[in-house]
Amino acid sequence: MPSITVIEHLLLHQKESPMATGRFTRLLNELILAAKIISREVNKAGLVDVLGFTGEINVQGEEVFKLDEFANRVLIHRLERAGVLCAMASEENADLIEIPSAFPAGEYILIFDPLDGSSNTESNVSIGTIFSIYRRKSPAGKSVTMDDVLQKGSDQVAAGYFVYGSSTMMVYTTGQGVHGFTLDPSVGEFLLSHPQIKIPERGKIYSINESYWNYWDAPTRQVVSYFKSPDNERGQPYNLRYIGSLVAGFHRNLLAGGIFMYPADNRDPKKPRGKLRLMCKAAPLAMIVEAAGGMATDGKMRILDIEPQELHQRVPLFIGSKKDIQKVMAFYQKGS
Ligand code: AHG
Ligand code: MN
Repeated sequence: MPSITVIEHLLLHQKESPMATGRFTRLLNELILAAKIISREVNKAGLVDVLGFTGEINVQGEEVFKLDEFANRVLIHRLERAGVLCAMASEENADLIEIPSAFPAGEYILIFDPLDGSSNTESNVSIGTIFSIYRRKSPAGKSVTMDDVLQKGSDQVAAGYFVYGSSTMMVYTTGQGVHGFTLDPSVGEFLLSHPQIKIPERGKIYSINESYWNYWDAPTRQVVSYFKSPDNERGQPYNLRYIGSLVAGFHRNLLAGGIFMYPADNRDPKKPRGKLRLMCKAAPLAMIVEAAGGMATDGKMRILDIEPQELHQRVPLFIGSKKDIQKVMAFYQKGS
């Protein structure tokens, strides 16, 4: 019977984790509370009028869903008054979210995607919240600059996600081990259910939106052909699983072994680098996958080594089992 909560787990391992300070614990607690509120709303989404578009367009030019907006508001509201952050950034906000001067500031920076895969809510498919935590670089007391925020993924102090699925789960890492907790709704706590998650070295699943085949370059087509081929190193085609929700696809591949891919394509000349955002999606999941023994690349470079130039930078993403990612990198090396 699992009975250890996230915070108990963090405190128990505090000797190994420099993150087990009161302030970091506070930050995690606030994230957990926000996620419980979002989870409740996601669960009752079919009952109330929260599904569908708000009619607004977000900074990325996409239609904003009502649940996106709700999740964004809850996270900002809870975290801005927690006294542990000096700034936030969200997929849904064009600029940095400053901490109002009425609230105490701290040293951490939180970057998040309030709701990943939100176009799926209409069909009751799993969606999630992804978060990434950095420490500010400039001394405390001064206002935070964009340089404080544009740090590479390897500087993250923690990263994680909540997935609102058939149960609600939290998966996070501070760099040493990846742990999964499942929300027990009867007690309202996330309890340790998946200690020390390790992703299998080679997977059996590939996840990609293959409808973009005609927009891909030759190495990308070779990559996808490899995973479908009976003559690949697995000796049989990988299973295709794509639900249109990165966090849900990533979660399955993390547990079962596999690769999630969102390559660059030439559909939109304004977006030559794929669709997914580096800072609020790719970098946090890359930190998790590496801590679980996997890898994440843009095809050529380790995701965690990419120096972001802007907050909403997009990046091609290949993430999952080590041997599968190495194969992808070999195709791109040959192709370039
Ligand atoms: P978001 O809901 O935060 O905008 O992100 C959706 C992302 C990701 O979760 C998913 O895998 C991908 O976009 C789906 O895009 P395609 O429809 O192009 O496959
Ligand atoms: Mn989103």
